[in-house]
Amino acid sequence: MIYLDNGATSLHKPPEVAQAVIRALRQCANPGRGGHKWAMEAAQTVYNCRELASQMFACQPEQVVFTANCTHGLNIAINALVRPGDRVLITGFEHNAVTRPLFARNVQTVVAGRKLFDRADTLQQWEDALKKGVHAAVMTHCSNVFGYILPVEEMAALCRQYQVPFIVDGAQSAGVLPIDFQALGADFIAMPGHKGLLGPQGTGLLLCASDTPALMQGGTGTQSVSQQMPRQLPEALEAGTLNVPGIAGLGAALSYLRRTGTEQILRREQMVARQCVYGLQKLGFPVFSGPDQTGTVSFLPHGDCEDAAAMLDRQGIAVRAGLHCAPLAHESAGTLQTGTVRVSFGHDATPAQAQRLLSALRQAH
Ligand code: ALA
Repeated sequence: MIYLDNGATSLHKPPEVAQAVIRALRQCANPGRGGHKWAMEAAQTVYNCRELASQMFACQPEQVVFTANCTHGLNIAINALVRPGDRVLITGFEHNAVTRPLFARNVQTVVAGRKLFDRADTLQQWEDALKKGVHAAVMTHCSNVFGYILPVEEMAALCRQYQVPFIVDGAQSAGVLPIDFQALGADFIAMPGHKGLLGPQGTGLLLCASDTPALMQGGTGTQSVSQQMPRQLPEALEAGTLNVPGIAGLGAALSYLRRTGTEQILRREQMVARQCVYGLQKLGFPVFSGPDQTGTVSFLPHGDCEDAAAMLDRQGIAVRAGLHCAPLAHESAGTLQTGTVRVSFGHDATPAQAQRLLSALRQAH
């Protein structure tokens, strides 16, 4: 099987991830809920991962909050910054994980930057909208459909200049693109543990600049006499038992990424994606590509997208077709009616994977 659906989740994890999960299942009790050896083992495992994440993203360990996924983190962040009726600035490439929580809070969204792979236009639209006044901004670092890398550093600088609090959605960038929380000056960055970070599903990280109201209340293992949630991070946002096996696996994945180097992974994914783009174009398919692109490529097959993905699946190639939970991104690119077939390469990308995809499409032609 050729797995080219890394935008949804990374299937092929480094072997030490599963080993760490199994070890935690056998040896870790509940962190912060007891002083015995097994609880301490769990606390150490969780802290190791928190520390590795803080080093990778340039923040303090206590600013790293464990979440169930990126959507969970985005909901905490949006809940903290956005009030009903607010004007909230977003890009034209946001996922439903951003647009649905905003819709549920009855906010007025201002969409800026809808031209694919046009960073100058994205920046101009972003600044124009900030000038008109908004209460908060949410920006995806990279489109999950098209792999478009948005100029997040410059967009963040504009938010700081106009003193607008902002959230970065790192769903597709964490583990692939450099992220410096301190330098960006974001209020929050949400990310999944199971995509580019190569950890297990059911894990996520939310980086928080400062104290944040809890979305959920419950036991934290601290200040138990009080009926109020502790205010300090990370406990304030970590009510209930943590996903210790998942966090153990994520810690192992972060160590792997540190050893391997995310720049190297990005270069590899981009190189194979470029080969894929070239081959798809030669076969006559409309392909969405540009200079600022990760290893994610969308194209339009001859005929229905879901049919094309099903044909590839029969050939042993996994891709994702349709709207990818991002109707706004498809609307921006003009593919809302058709969807696209998305090919997303991962840390294990090889030219042979692209070749297999291209020959399956050529045969079906
Ligand atoms: N948001 C994920 C994707 O793009 C699941 O496929």
